[in-house]
Amino acid sequence: MKAWNGRFKKELNHLVEDFQASISYDHVLVAEDITGSIAHTKMLATCGIIPAQEADQIINGLYEVWTSIQNGEVTFQTQYEDIHMNIEALLTQRIGPVAGKLHTARSRNDQVALDMHLYTRKHTVTLVALILQLQSTLISLAEKYQTVIMPGYTHLQRAQPVPFAHHLLAYVAMLERDVERLVDSYKRTNTCPLGAGAIAGTTFPIDRNQVAQSLGFDRLYENSMDAVSDRDYLVELLANGSLIMVHLSRLAEELILWSSDEFKYITLDDAFCTGSSMMPQKKNPDIPELIRGKTGRVFGHLTALLTTLKALPLTYNKDLQEDKEGVFDTVSTLEQVLTILTPLLDTLEVHAEKMKQNAETGFLNATDLADYLVRKGIPFREAHAIVGKLVLDCIEKNRNLIDVPLNELQEACPQINADIYHDLSLEQMIETRTCEGGTAFEVRKNNIAHAKTRIQQW
Ligand code: ARG
Repeated sequence: MKAWNGRFKKELNHLVEDFQASISYDHVLVAEDITGSIAHTKMLATCGIIPAQEADQIINGLYEVWTSIQNGEVTFQTQYEDIHMNIEALLTQRIGPVAGKLHTARSRNDQVALDMHLYTRKHTVTLVALILQLQSTLISLAEKYQTVIMPGYTHLQRAQPVPFAHHLLAYVAMLERDVERLVDSYKRTNTCPLGAGAIAGTTFPIDRNQVAQSLGFDRLYENSMDAVSDRDYLVELLANGSLIMVHLSRLAEELILWSSDEFKYITLDDAFCTGSSMMPQKKNPDIPELIRGKTGRVFGHLTALLTTLKALPLTYNKDLQEDKEGVFDTVSTLEQVLTILTPLLDTLEVHAEKMKQNAETGFLNATDLADYLVRKGIPFREAHAIVGKLVLDCIEKNRNLIDVPLNELQEACPQINADIYHDLSLEQMIETRTCEGGTAFEVRKNNIAHAKTRIQQW
């Protein structure tokens, strides 16, 4: 028996039944649906819309249904279409026709919106916690490898030396923006749609504020039509998730590059790699590769939902049921990826010598030589050209700038003195960059302290 049976002369075609059912995925909303129904029932009783004793029956019944679902005693049924109708059917089996009063002053349109708000709110908090944990792991690594210097890259060509810690802290900064965005989107997510009914509110004297407060919402949707048709908060979750994946895929890509023999900057722990079924020598970075790979599906879910919403007339349309799988998949993908990255990074082996070797070759001190000339009064453009010529000469002679004898340097520019060799050393290059955001140890120490405080404060 369908909830809308009165109006229909025929049974639903069995193909339609399968096609339109969402229970195969919206069953994850059990806790949200029952929590919402309990709050709604309490309000119905407080407002005198249903007798208190019947409300108790309904609430006790809902708890029993919840327990039996948790105990694995329930098989959800496609004929009941979705989680909302399945739970109502289970409640009816337990407490009889009084279960039918639960849906007073409510529609599945505001019910499903409520469930999705509760779900998104809960997982926004989990995601923030996981990101903060990952940030802490990155900071620990930065502290552990304080003194390690590596080449910094632009265009994937060696550019200037940077502390390995500085590189890691760039990811901490990206992740901080992710946390900020999630926290900001929480405001809009934490808005209660219940009471909007199917579209226009209800004739019953409900107390929307009571429901909202009891469920911990900060505010109500002010317009019932907006309440049932809004999916912006889900788009925000998917957009925030997409940016998180952008960041994590960049980290993953670097881990893949760095663990290759061509770089050999790091070794990933055996427990986080896989081998080849054919090539005995292989050790593959599957985990970062999968993180990189899974980024695509998250972007896909964002595009899919935007496309679903585009030009959709108000208010509820069945199209909106398509919001769920992408959101659920995004949340579980993000939670998995964020969780696995922490131990993967914790067990990373860092090859400081190889990083240093590569930082010492490739003319990463060319800018510092030019800056030295500028300090001697030479305009930067001229200094750039002088050093450019010296670099070209070094490439032809297969040597580094630091190996060029002083007399040759002075031939290129008489203002150069013996102190240049000190200025061109890795440590000096890093330590003289003391401006905000620079590579010097003192700057980083402050940055780490600030980052730690902010992690504590969220
Ligand atoms: N399963 C539906 C969904 O996810 C619930 C809302 C159904 N409302 C309706 N008017 N058919 O969107």
